Formats: sequence, C-alpha cells, structure tokens
Amino acid sequence: MSASFAIPDTQKAWLSVRRGYPPSKSLELRNDWPVKKTLKAGEVIVKIHAAALNPVGWKNMRLYPDFIAKRPYVAEHDFSGVVVSANGSAGFKEGDEIYGWIQSAIALPTKQGALAEYLVVPAANIVKRPANISGIEAAGVSLTAMTALQALNFAKLEEGQTLFVNGGSTAVGAWAIQLAKVRGAKVVATCSKKNEEYVKKLGADEVIDYTSVGPLHTYLTQSPPSTKYNVIFEAVGQFDPSLFTYSRAYLQPNGTFVSVGPMPHEFNLSAIPGAFKWISALYLPAFLTGVRPKGKLVLVENKVEDMELLRKYLEEGKIKPTVDSVYQFHDALSAYEKLLSSRARGKVIVNVSLPPGTGSASE
Ligand SMILES: NC(=O)c1ccc[n+]([C@@H]2O[C@H](COP(=O)([O-])OP(=O)(O)OC[C@H]3O[C@@H](n4cnc5c(N)ncnc54)[C@H](OP(=O)(O)O)[C@@H]3O)[C@@H](O)[C@H]2O)c1
Repeated sequence: MSASFAIPDTQKAWLSVRRGYPPSKSLELRNDWPVKKTLKAGEVIVKIHAAALNPVGWKNMRLYPDFIAKRPYVAEHDFSGVVVSANGSAGFKEGDEIYGWIQSAIALPTKQGALAEYLVVPAANIVKRPANISGIEAAGVSLTAMTALQALNFAKLEEGQTLFVNGGSTAVGAWAIQLAKVRGAKVVATCSKKNEEYVKKLGADEVIDYTSVGPLHTYLTQSPPSTKYNVIFEAVGQFDPSLFTYSRAYLQPNGTFVSVGPMPHEFNLSAIPGAFKWISALYLPAFLTGVRPKGKLVLVENKVEDMELLRKYLEEGKIKPTVDSVYQFHDALSAYEKLLSSRARGKVIVNVSLPPGTGSASE
C-alpha cells in the first residue's frame, strides 16, 4: 500500500526574480510560492529533501534576460526527495525515496527548480535512491554524474585506455575518474596539491598539481606521457582552448578531446577572442587550424538509461557521491558563495526539509 501525503498550496522557494550576478542580486526567498499540483501523464510530485547547486544555476541567473527566463522561476536543478503523488506513473508510487534533476528546458518554462519544497517532474527524470546513499549525498548526483558519463560515452573510453581529466576535484571530474576506473581505464588527473590525496582516493593513478607546472598545454608538450592519452576530458570549463589546440603533442591521433564547455569569468568584449578560438578549433577543417584530434563540447541531457546505470553503480558501491558542504535552506546564499569560490571539493548541498544537521562533508 502506498503512503498518502498532504500537499500544501504554497511553499517556500528561492526565486530568481531578476537577472543578476552574484546570485544574491538575482534571488529572493519567498514563503508563498504556489505548489504545482496538476500532473500530466507520466509526471510525479516530489517533496524535496535536499538540493545541490550547480554552476548552470548561477549562469542562468546571470545570462538569461527576462523574456527568455520568464522570471520569477525557482533556482537550481539537482534534488533528492520523496514521491508524494505519482498519478499512475510507471515504476513509482507515493512514498518512494528518489533523486533526480530538472533540466533548464523543463525548469524555465514551468518556473520550477530544486530550491523549493515541491516540484513536478516527468518520472523519466528520477530514479529510486539506493539505501546505501543518503538523501544529502543523492541530491548531488544526477547532473554532474550524467555529464561525466556522457562525455566518456562520446569518447568511447575503453578498458586499458588512458583518460586525462583536467580538474580531478571538480564534481564532474570526480565522477569521470570513478567511472573511468569502473571501465578499467588508467586515469591521470590535474588538481591542486591540497587535493592530491582526495583525487587519488577517487581512483586517479597519477596526479599533476596544476598550480605548480605553469600552462598545462606547455607542460604536457614538454613532458608528454610515454603513451599519449586516448581521451582528454576538460572538466573545469576553461575558456582558454590551448589544452585542445596543442593536444597533438599528448593526445593519440585518433584520440578524443571532450570539454564541459568554456565559461569566461566575465561576459564582456574580452571574451570574444577566446570564444572565436574555441569555435574555430572545433568546427573549422584541420588544414586551417592544425588541430587534428576530434573535439566535442558535452551538453548534459536526460537519458533514463544513464540515470539507471549510475543508480546501479551507486548501489553496487562502484562509485560514491562527494559532498563538500551542507547548508540550511535559509542560508542558500552562503552555499552559492562556496560554489562561486571555485574551491568546492564535491557537491555543495542545501538541506531543504531533512532534519537540521543531517549529512556532512564526505571528508
Ligand atoms: N556542459 C555541461 O552539460 C555541464 C554540466 C555540468 C557542469 N558543467 C561545467 O563543468 C564545470 C565544472 O563544474 P563542477 O560543478 O564540477 O565544478 P566544481 O565542483 O564547482 O569545481 C570546483 C573545483 O574546481 C577545481 N578547480 C578550479 N580551477 C581549476 C583548474 N584551473 N584546474 C583544475 N582544477 C580546478 C577546484 O580545485 P582547487 O581548489 O584545487 O583549485 C575545485 O575542487 C563548470 O564550468 C560547469 O559549468 C558543464
């Protein structure tokens, strides 16, 4: 028998009310945001337990003008929670503990997000939470783990190959390392000195302290690996494309370069040359650019088979979520400060409705 839940008419929610950066200039905490209760076939209502912050959250606040973002909308994308209404959705019933995400393409038009108490999502966006993963940990899985999985899938990383991860301590990079080890690949990853042990514990066979080697493409060109890498995954979001454009020196001729996508620190005219360099390196023919390896910017998309595979790996203990820190709901702006520091080691989580004090950093 399924549990029955009383669903309130209004909820507390962090809303992006205007375009702005940092998030404190865009967000307002409201206590009277309506709870969406009408479900289309295949949708569920989730009572959110915890939400995780992702850079796309503040990028949407910063980038999108109101006519695209249709403000106000609830911020953020990753969540864990419990199904409180399933409307006959295959595979789920009221009371199921789940985790999942809501991508911008659904979130913005429906004005929904993870920094609220309730949301309505297609059942294809959630999976059941394995018992060995807490609600706090599960909140930070979907978006970053699927990004890493889809990058490795595009590159067709196989057993016995070597993956180079730029940014082994980013949330995306941490998943890439763990998933590459599940596939039986060797992993070399960059991180700062303080994160060496952490990144090795995730499974990296070798680490390079990016703070001590100078420009990475120059270092790798001057000290190339004995066998060139099969796949390079740029998991920091660097705006400078040099790691890609110089990669002939350290990436196999038939190797693949995948990036999470360049993101400048500031959106102004100085960003244009970098954007032009990326676009020309990726899309112009090799005889014009001299860049021979295949390159791709990964853009995470919802794939039920990827969500299910990651859930299975988590349940089997093959991969583990990483949590940097946990903030209370009213303190979400402090959580954004941590994310924006670019120093988080694992996911920054906001506790929405779990007892205060639930969950802690992984390390
Ligand atoms: N395309 C997509 O679909 C997609 C999806 C998800 C994320 N992304 C993008 O992927 C990037 C990473 O996101 P995330 O959430 O994983 O980031 P994150 O966890 O917030 O990254 C923080 C980490 O980055 C490390 N770091 C900072 N600068 C570095 C550098 N130059 N070299 C190596 N490590 C560095 C920091 O380590 P130290 O303290 O040691 O520096 C820190 O541990 C972002 O740009 C995000 O927008 C794209």
